[in-house]
Amino acid sequence: MNKNIISMSKIDKYYDDFHVLKNINFEVKRGEIVVVCGPSGSGKSTLIRCINGLEEIDSGTVIVDGIDINESKKSLQTIRGEVGMVFQHFNLFPHLTILENITLAPGLVKKVNKEEAQKVAMELLKKVKLEFKANAYPSDLSGGQKQRIAIARSLAMKPKVILFDEPTSALDPETIGDVLSVMKDLAQENFTIVCVTHEMGFAKEVGDKIVFMDKGVIVEESTPNEFFLNPKSQRAKDFLKEILTH
Ligand SMILES: Nc1ncnc2c1ncn2[C@@H]1O[C@H](COP(=O)(O)OP(=O)(O)OP(=O)(O)O)[C@@H](O)[C@H]1O
Ligand SMILES: [Mg+2]
Repeated sequence: MNKNIISMSKIDKYYDDFHVLKNINFEVKRGEIVVVCGPSGSGKSTLIRCINGLEEIDSGTVIVDGIDINESKKSLQTIRGEVGMVFQHFNLFPHLTILENITLAPGLVKKVNKEEAQKVAMELLKKVKLEFKANAYPSDLSGGQKQRIAIARSLAMKPKVILFDEPTSALDPETIGDVLSVMKDLAQENFTIVCVTHEMGFAKEVGDKIVFMDKGVIVEESTPNEFFLNPKSQRAKDFLKEILTH
């Protein structure tokens, strides 16, 4: 088995004539925790959205778990089933209970029967420490709780890879810790995680690799220790100074 679960090579992407990703090579090993950081507009969200085909690329290849995303419609579907995604805004369905939010996709997409889907959902709710909210509606939850539900919902599809796009940046400071704690648990459980975040504590504690982007280019790739203690490029130094003084 290939040790890389994600291999992106020579990726170029444009929004009209704006060159948003410039000859990107990006690889993630099975079980690896990769943190993507960089200034606003540098292309972080676009990059991770290319992994599950939410954004189309103009050239290059994206291979996930041995499947080339552009080979056929079916390969895109297969990859979407293997790659979960958690966004900054959790997008829970407001008219469904928490349990219904989590069981919806496994029922519709994977045809899991209701009883089994509910059993799995309850286990996941336990994992994110919100089993007492099973029958509540999203509006009864704090932002941090909603984000933990969004994580449980993503896990219900049994993904091999989870992509996080700034999962804590819209949360009140007092709820961030609980979300990070769930993410740290996942990191210990051998999930493969690609996370766009400026939570440098998280990056240092569980990150295997930091990828620093600027202006559509991967400028540096290193271990968290190296990146924080000894950033190589001036751009990374400026970025770190900026986030550490905020
Ligand atoms: N659908 C779109 N159409 C046109 N331009 C876009 C589109 N989406 C993003 N862009 C532009 O592409 C660039 C990269 O956007 P992207 O969202 O990937 O950056 P980012 O690094 O995630 O930024 P942030 O930290 O603010 O989330 C930005 O200049 C953005 O304005
Ligand atoms: Mg973004």
